[in-house]
Amino acid sequence: MSQNFPLPPLAQIPPHLQTIADYEQQARKHLPDMVWQYLQGGSMDEISVRSNLAQFAHIQLLPRMLKDLTHGSTECEIFGQKFPHPIFLAPIGHQQQFHPEAEAASALAAEVLGSNMILSTFSNTDMRALKRENPYKWFQLYWQGGREKSLALVKLAEQQNFKAIVITVDSPHTGIRDRERRVFFQLPAGMQHPHTPAHIPLPELKAGDHPVFNGLMKIAPTWDDIAWIAQQTSLPVILKGVLHPLDARLAIQHGVRGLIVSNHGGRVLDTGIPPLTALQLIRKAVPADFPLLYDGGVRRGSDVFKAIALGASAVLIGRPYIYGLACAGALGVAHVVKILKEEFEITMALMGTAALNDITEEYIFQK
Ligand code: FNR
Repeated sequence: MSQNFPLPPLAQIPPHLQTIADYEQQARKHLPDMVWQYLQGGSMDEISVRSNLAQFAHIQLLPRMLKDLTHGSTECEIFGQKFPHPIFLAPIGHQQQFHPEAEAASALAAEVLGSNMILSTFSNTDMRALKRENPYKWFQLYWQGGREKSLALVKLAEQQNFKAIVITVDSPHTGIRDRERRVFFQLPAGMQHPHTPAHIPLPELKAGDHPVFNGLMKIAPTWDDIAWIAQQTSLPVILKGVLHPLDARLAIQHGVRGLIVSNHGGRVLDTGIPPLTALQLIRKAVPADFPLLYDGGVRRGSDVFKAIALGASAVLIGRPYIYGLACAGALGVAHVVKILKEEFEITMALMGTAALNDITEEYIFQK
């Protein structure tokens, strides 16, 4: 596997990298155009990619003054596990495309910054190669076409001290990614995926079979499979990509312990409900203490605040930390998380909130 990077990663962080937007501009210089289009793009007309970013601008903050915040903290707790702050790393596959050290670099940065990393099934780095003692890691499962193969990955994650299983359910079929098709996107030849084939083998089609419904849909998971997996593991099972409040309720009935409200960064279904809107609908449909995580379009610490105010227990960032990875490996990922964490802390202070539990809808004005 060889990847030609147009510009080598930076050894130090230059002063012009102050924001996620700065990192985005810089990252483009470090990546081949095909990889850049893969990273940035989304499905069809990319309306959801853009609205993921735009939705935050429409939500206005309503700050409180003169409170004693000297005991302030960004700590949060999910499934009894404490995290120093609520900014987690979303599962992103094939990270060798962005930096030779791939997920190992992201994991190192996550550990140093106390960020919870969710390792993708499409990782180029073996779960066994990540530090076992680091408790801030969850494993993301793409259904492996059947129960036994899927369970084998869950069991490996258990053994490697991963603390939860995230099953991504919003992409039983890949999105229609016009941008990728225009640049003939393909993964580098020979790229290693220790936990899955790069393309999960399809059932053989007979004459007259439908390529979608008798193909990928035949090996896609259903609610029964989710309930089965949840029964087979001691780890909490979380679903990623749920947007409908009725699915949120079904998830609870099938033994799911938390949800990541997400539209996969706008990469699968275009023009779906913005995930921040879905978060508010789902928050009303589930018990108050049911963990809801959020991802999609988080680029500022104030976005973290808004997602928490609207019902999230924590947020995930996707593309932002990959910008950091492309620019400067582990150092870049760590700096991206640090930027967001500091912006979030200062937003909390300016909003008059001392703890995550203080951050509620009372601090939001929606027109
Ligand atoms: C993703 N995402 C993703 N999700 C998942 O469950 N498994 C995966 O392997 C991947 N791979 C992946 C690759 C790339 C290049 C991107 C951009 C995204 C989706 C990801 O976890 C997350 O939902 C979004 O990235 C969040 O949106 P932002 O933060 O990128 O706006």
